[in-house]
Amino acid sequence: MISKLFVVICILFPQVLTDSNRYSFPEEFLFGVATAAYQIEGAFDEDGKTYSIWDYNLHKNPDWVKDRANGDVACDSYHKWKEDIQLVKALGANFYRMSIAWTRILPSGHAGSQINEKAVLHYNNIINELISEGLIPMITIYHWDLPQSLQEIGGWMNPDIIDHYVFYAQTVFNLFGDRVKHWITFNEPYHICEEGYSGVSMAPFFNASGIGGYLCSHNVLLSHGKIYRLYEKLYKPSQNGKISITMDTTWYEAKDQSSDSDKEAAQRKLQFNYGWYMHPLVKGNYPAVMIERIDKFSEQEGFPKSRLPKFTESEIEMIRGSYDFLGLNHYSTSLAEPSQNFNQPSQNYDTGVQDSGDPEWEVSKTSPWLKDVPWGLRKLLVWIKEEYRNPPLFIFENGWSSTSGLMDEDRVRYINGYLSELLKAIHEDGCNVLGYTHWSLLDNFEWLSGYSARFGLVEVDFNSRERTRTPRLSYRVYQNIIKSRIVN
Ligand code: NOJ
Repeated sequence: MISKLFVVICILFPQVLTDSNRYSFPEEFLFGVATAAYQIEGAFDEDGKTYSIWDYNLHKNPDWVKDRANGDVACDSYHKWKEDIQLVKALGANFYRMSIAWTRILPSGHAGSQINEKAVLHYNNIINELISEGLIPMITIYHWDLPQSLQEIGGWMNPDIIDHYVFYAQTVFNLFGDRVKHWITFNEPYHICEEGYSGVSMAPFFNASGIGGYLCSHNVLLSHGKIYRLYEKLYKPSQNGKISITMDTTWYEAKDQSSDSDKEAAQRKLQFNYGWYMHPLVKGNYPAVMIERIDKFSEQEGFPKSRLPKFTESEIEMIRGSYDFLGLNHYSTSLAEPSQNFNQPSQNYDTGVQDSGDPEWEVSKTSPWLKDVPWGLRKLLVWIKEEYRNPPLFIFENGWSSTSGLMDEDRVRYINGYLSELLKAIHEDGCNVLGYTHWSLLDNFEWLSGYSARFGLVEVDFNSRERTRTPRLSYRVYQNIIKSRIVN
């Protein structure tokens, strides 16, 4: 209860209320932390697990990753999961967002293949322990670790993948859906597809610029829609869970605020990154600006048909509305201006936007793409509210990458800044945000940056056999925010 005296003081001297302590998080708002299987589990060949596209590619090409690191051992969470859960619990979080490794559950990967009982036992142990500790398990079904066996047949570019994914997802519903009530079908389709199939910075490093990303995204969206409809029909009546998908986007701000073409470029970039998935989910089909530009450029380039695949009417309907709530992964902001200075064919050329940073912004020392621009989160949330009819939204990732060390003041500043802006978006702008997830609980395998970019609230000593975990200053700060429900 706020005391009367405090209210009087606030009325007489409003300056005692800073932006950040004016608001508190609503009672039903949930806080969590996130991890992903390949980034923390290790045990890459234990108990029947087979190779994912990350295991395969990094064993074959160790030089692609900083310090020749890989996820073979990572945080050893396959063995240390109990300790991880204690850390989540002591943080005071409401939920733990984690992913399941497809290659553990179905070692052969494909639809109809044998379930691996050891993997079932492993994830059952984790889920049961989370629940008995009062934590909500929120499970990402696919966080980038496709079985290599399925990549051999084209991976996400082959439409056959839809049936394989649907079988795998149904398997996890059958196994764990009696207790898991929050499912995330895919983590960051943009990264799965654009980085993995058009580019070379994510597995499977396919490098089909301007083509692979569109084919992959099409199949990811169809897989998502199909599994949502199946869950709705076959599982929801008895399991009563909720299904989401989480997309990432940077906020794009016009480089020159007074330039219409910069403003247009920023909007176009948002549509090509986030709208690519949000538009089919909320409004149906790809955004008009994507269809128009990709069709036009494909024709100019001499392709027999558009590089952007087409949905049928029934597919559009299947995907439209296929969510109970939506996920947003957001880390950073960039400036946008029009440019066609890119190779063809490419998603960059199709988008026609050059992005850059503002020299005033603080840049992460270990992840050059990551800038501390808290107001970008608020602007993005307002944009989503206006563009997509204020959907129920979870922030499923947000975080800062530091160097090693326990006094991570840079992460503390980032957390305070972003959560303050989130409070304003909720209270002043009416954005329908239901929860916030910090990435990550632990320092972990940060893809091609290996263990050099540290995202953990908890430091992990990768030189110790025990992978010793030590909470950082930011862990205490986040713990305090969760407890007090305000940002100091
Ligand atoms: C996106 C991804 O989901 C996660 O795997 C990654 O580690 C973080 N963002 C930080 O880059």
